[in-house]
Amino acid sequence: MQVSINVNGEQRSHEVEDRTLLVQYLRDDCGLTGTNIGCDTTSCGACTVLLDGESVKSCTVLAAQADGHEVTTIEGLADGEELHPMQRAFQQKHGLQCGFCTPGMVMASVSLVEENPNLTEAEVRAGLEGNLCRCTGYHNIVEAVLTAAKEKSGAAE
Ligand code: FES
Ligand code: FES
Repeated sequence: MQVSINVNGEQRSHEVEDRTLLVQYLRDDCGLTGTNIGCDTTSCGACTVLLDGESVKSCTVLAAQADGHEVTTIEGLADGEELHPMQRAFQQKHGLQCGFCTPGMVMASVSLVEENPNLTEAEVRAGLEGNLCRCTGYHNIVEAVLTAAKEKSGAAE
């Protein structure tokens, strides 16, 4: 089947199999390999992207379901050379070790802060429950999200 998806602001059309997962489509057809595959069980969150602004695990969505919709991947977050505030916060707070989980963590965090910039630490931890870091470096990730949230709520005041 033919799918037409706006990926990171660019309209793309590809012929895919009906069973193609969104994560496969992004990696194999679009060449956007920042979205990682870390499990076969929808449990790790390494594949998290934004679908019409909402975070989804792209290994549980078919490319066909994204037909006609907008997808943002980690590659689409920065504004040219300018990092997204969440990427900056992860960098500043050392919210990564091996970095494998980072794209998914960042995308999930962007959506979390978009929904509620006045997050508490407990809310950040609960909101990122679906994202696993095999380096178990959660403390700095939570710090990073709170920093970006503070920046956003400060900007909104
Ligand atoms: S690859 Fe999607 S949740 Fe693990
Ligand atoms: S930084 Fe290594 S998996 Fe998270």
